[in-house]
Amino acid sequence: MTRFDTLITNGRLITAADSYDADIGIKDGRIVALGEDLGEAAEVIDAQGLWVMPGGIDAHCHLDQPLGDGAVMADDFLTGTRSAACGGTTTVIPFAVQQKGQSLRAAVEDYHRRSEGKAMVDYAFHMIVTDPTESVLKEELPALIEEGYSSFKIYLTYDDLKLNDREVLEVLAMARREGGMVMVHAENADCIAYLTELLESQGQTSPFYHGVAHSAIAEREATHRAISLAELIDVPLLIVHVSGPEAIEQIRWAQGRGLRVYGETCPQYLMLTASDLDQEGFEGAKCVCSPPPRDKAAQEAVWQALEGGVFQVFSSDHAPFRYDDPQGKKLHGEEAGFHHIPNGIPGLETRLSILFSEGVVKQRIDPTRFVALTATNPAKIYGLYPRKGTIAIGSDADLTLWDPRARSTVRNVDLHHAVDYTPYEGLELTGRPVLALCRGASVSRNGEPTAEPGHGQFLKCDKPQPARPRGQAKGF
Ligand code: URP
Ligand code: ZN
Ligand code: ZN
Repeated sequence: MTRFDTLITNGRLITAADSYDADIGIKDGRIVALGEDLGEAAEVIDAQGLWVMPGGIDAHCHLDQPLGDGAVMADDFLTGTRSAACGGTTTVIPFAVQQKGQSLRAAVEDYHRRSEGKAMVDYAFHMIVTDPTESVLKEELPALIEEGYSSFKIYLTYDDLKLNDREVLEVLAMARREGGMVMVHAENADCIAYLTELLESQGQTSPFYHGVAHSAIAEREATHRAISLAELIDVPLLIVHVSGPEAIEQIRWAQGRGLRVYGETCPQYLMLTASDLDQEGFEGAKCVCSPPPRDKAAQEAVWQALEGGVFQVFSSDHAPFRYDDPQGKKLHGEEAGFHHIPNGIPGLETRLSILFSEGVVKQRIDPTRFVALTATNPAKIYGLYPRKGTIAIGSDADLTLWDPRARSTVRNVDLHHAVDYTPYEGLELTGRPVLALCRGASVSRNGEPTAEPGHGQFLKCDKPQPARPRGQAKGF
């Protein structure tokens, strides 16, 4: 019998700490050897000229999430994880959402039913807490955290999801007691509602005005408030999908004071601006997401914060709605005001290639930081490290082999999600994943899926023990 199932030779290995040349021996889905001349294997993959990185972890994406308003997400666990695999992502963490009045346990059980047997890559669950009743806070959440559901998102906006400040404090206090990681969608609901009504009364209802209603000031205020509430309770907090300098300044301020405040941003805040909402006819609806893309100066601020260490996590916030569909962006028709358009844009498959091309190839971030942002830090923050997110002996053999020089153009017809558009159509990229392995098995090759539905396994997350963010310092 050969020593390894698979041997990856001649590659340049890149982790969040180092890059170096070594071969990788894989047995039973795990990395069991790193070095030179490792010996015989049933299969040898020659990675000459390729970079070998930990498989991507997309720690913020929405798949088959039940929505109350008649909208339906385009991607379920099959199409979503197929798309992830083809983009080099080997673990996803979508959200089990609690409907108001529903038990959190029921939401998690329902989400298991939706995912069972469908995923091509591994997956864990965050939860969305919308109804923090006494039994949720004192019984359900403590038990669920122990069972491997250790992170949850709370909202400060959207009528059917939002918590008031008292409820936020109760959730934060529970997270401190039980050791959970809280993610927050930080926008001020009343500011948005006020601006929405004002704009509507003036007939300013096209998709462009979504960006006006979701003002950066509303994002800044809610970000600061969430940080203050977490400081009061003395608990870590992660601010998701940060769009620009106003919120970044709050996070940088908190980190500068030594608070355990983490930040996440997404491709749309690097690549899109408010002008993408301002397209002919209803086309701008394709880029309606919250917070919205802002201006060129905001993009530059996001790049600087990625480079400078304010952000720890880079996720897609894939929220898939078809454009030409009465259950998608056209839920209420093209004449409906902007606030009736389902929020969210697709991005699972393009997340890594965009950051690689625009960040690594253009030398805004180095390859080790790319790995930290897209795999290692999310694994640490959400309790999956070191099983996931690194190349080390004993870790799962979740690896993505990159050709750093390959050129491609983003075309929706080449993507594997079930959405009928990509906001990045026509974008020219350098660098692409040529092979992705999830626990040693190939899940995509040259951008095409190679796994069977059901290959992906559910992952229980440990209680997160992230390092304190170092603000301006590079690295974690
Ligand atoms: O517009 C967005 N981001 N939709 C997805 C849901 C969320 O708030 O992340
Ligand atoms: Zn959100
Ligand atoms: Zn989201």
